[in-house]
Amino acid sequence: MKKIVILLALMLMGATQIHADEGMWLPSEILKKIKDIQSQGFKLSAEDIYSVNQSSLKDAVVRFGSGCTGELISSEGLLITNHHCGYGQIQSHSSVEHDYLKDGFWAMSRAEELPNPGLTVSFLEYMTDVTDEVLKGYKKNMTEEKRIALVEKNSRKIEEKAIKGNANLQAFVKPIYYGNQYFLFVYKVYTDVRLVGAPPSSIGKFGGDTDNWMWPRHTGDFSLFRVYAGADNEPAAYSEKNVPFRPKKFFKVNAKGIKEGDFTMVYGFPGRTNEYLFSEAVKYTALTSNPHKIALRTLRLNIQREEMNKDQAVRIKYASKNASVSNAWKKWQGEAKGILRMKAIENKQAFEAQFDQWAEGKPEYEQVVERFKELYASIEELSLVNDYQVEALNAVELIAFAGRGQANAEKFYKDYYMPIDKASFIALYKAYDKNIADKFKSPYFKEQLQKYGSMENWADSLFTETPNLAMAEEIYQETNAWFKAHIAPTLLSVNKEITLLYRTYMRGMMEYNEATGGGKIFYPDANSTLRVTYGQVKGYKPADAIYYTPVSSLDGVIEKDNPEIYDYNIPQKLRDLHAAKDYGRWEVDGSVPVAFIATNHTSGGNSGSPVLDADGNLIGVNFDRVWEGTMSDVVYDPEICRNIALDIRFALFIIDKLAGAKHLLDEIEVVQ
Ligand code: ARG
Ligand code: GLU
Repeated sequence: MKKIVILLALMLMGATQIHADEGMWLPSEILKKIKDIQSQGFKLSAEDIYSVNQSSLKDAVVRFGSGCTGELISSEGLLITNHHCGYGQIQSHSSVEHDYLKDGFWAMSRAEELPNPGLTVSFLEYMTDVTDEVLKGYKKNMTEEKRIALVEKNSRKIEEKAIKGNANLQAFVKPIYYGNQYFLFVYKVYTDVRLVGAPPSSIGKFGGDTDNWMWPRHTGDFSLFRVYAGADNEPAAYSEKNVPFRPKKFFKVNAKGIKEGDFTMVYGFPGRTNEYLFSEAVKYTALTSNPHKIALRTLRLNIQREEMNKDQAVRIKYASKNASVSNAWKKWQGEAKGILRMKAIENKQAFEAQFDQWAEGKPEYEQVVERFKELYASIEELSLVNDYQVEALNAVELIAFAGRGQANAEKFYKDYYMPIDKASFIALYKAYDKNIADKFKSPYFKEQLQKYGSMENWADSLFTETPNLAMAEEIYQETNAWFKAHIAPTLLSVNKEITLLYRTYMRGMMEYNEATGGGKIFYPDANSTLRVTYGQVKGYKPADAIYYTPVSSLDGVIEKDNPEIYDYNIPQKLRDLHAAKDYGRWEVDGSVPVAFIATNHTSGGNSGSPVLDADGNLIGVNFDRVWEGTMSDVVYDPEICRNIALDIRFALFIIDKLAGAKHLLDEIEVVQ
């Protein structure tokens, strides 16, 4: 194992420069990249980015909830993240009378800040390579099953040792490079996190799902929270006695602004990428999985939209759900297109052919390509059944709710509207019936359909005046039991073999690269751990004869403003501020900057991540990627892949002029 680790390290250090922008780097390994980062304009050191001995940038970056990033921007625990990351919380405090989604929310004193049970903010204490410990007791030729059990056992031990019974700490051992290496991550978790401010959705979600994943963009996608702690500054359960947390490090804000070509760094928690996929898997994604999942979500979205347009109460209930269904739906479309446009399948196939040739006579690698083909072919149909289990059968809200034992019933019914769910059931179950081969279909499903004669009749029995929870539970149990017994076992065992094969392939690609002087730099796929990515503010060319410049402004918001269209109907006060050009300190060239794009390699989970300048000051808050570049989770194109960030000055302008929350501005250190 030692040898492999050394080899990996050599790869990271020795490989020559290709494109600077691709890659998500582990902060603790950043010393290996710092020369390049500095050559791009960064003025700080590796120790400034990540250190366990002194406070560093990492101490101002947090995991917000389970799917987002946030950062500290004051000495008193003030935190900024995206509006869409705080959306669930903002919604949960909202009703038709106090509609904070619609009207925004600003706590004018600490006493008005709203607690959010269940919300956590996690600070990374440290991360470290634990490969040797995780693989202690590993013997060559161990079966993958045995290895998995060993890794589990050793990992739990390492995690326990790291926590030492401290209830405020969480530890996770995670594989990188498909288990060629393992890292330990230790977090301190704060649980008293209060909502401080959010603009109206007409700013925070301006452009809605129409503009989502798109540039040019004019969304003020931010919200403010505050981390509270006990008197000792340690995590404490919510209490009125808690005090604002005093962070080791918080970001100063650079209000001098950015221009094309400026250095940018994004520091955050990207969720999942698959940059080293075999061609067959990329093909399945682009040609089969994405199209089917898109079609299923189109059905749900059309049903939701129709009902939401009829009734404001339904709109509030489904706002968050609708946004999340729509989000992946749109991303999958951009991703599939991007994969095809880049000819990623063909390029991968060509590479695999070369690799295969090189592997000839090397026992470790010579079967890899052939075996991948066999394994992927053996699960292609089952993978589609899996997609339908998740996106069709279990996507009916009532059935999922009954299936999880009716947990959180109050919350479920608060946001539930039966006509939407009933129509979704009919549409989704029909799609399953039509698109899944008979031999893979749940026999229970077939019996019931036959018994009721039509999906509509079946739905009438399920969605009675008070929903038929017993029936919903039966449907859930039966179809999932069938799936578990007849579909999942093969999928699981083949996927185990696939993971093992990737572990070998990964090493093989690195050796191949070294042997052929390929000069490719490897970085681990995202796995919800802290990463650094760097690049520059830069426009792009999305299609023939179009070039997009990288900065948007308030004038563009006004151009899109339309009181007739829900997602483009800005608050009157913003119109007035614009008409009076009342921009205060935030004016640039007669307007206020709103958002910008840059070449940082980001993914889902990077929402809310700090975008930093060459001095490590905050210039923006990451919130999206451009649609044409969403294939970057699988294959990165430096010409087209751009992250989208809120310009921090737009947030300051809104806090200052729209909210009149001067007390918050006073907390923030602005470099101007
Ligand atoms: N596309 C962004 C992300 O992946 C924003 C999502 C929320 N906004 C929305 N309109 N659905 O999280
Ligand atoms: N909006 C995404 C998020 O929630 C970030 C966009 C992306 O996938 O890059 O993390």
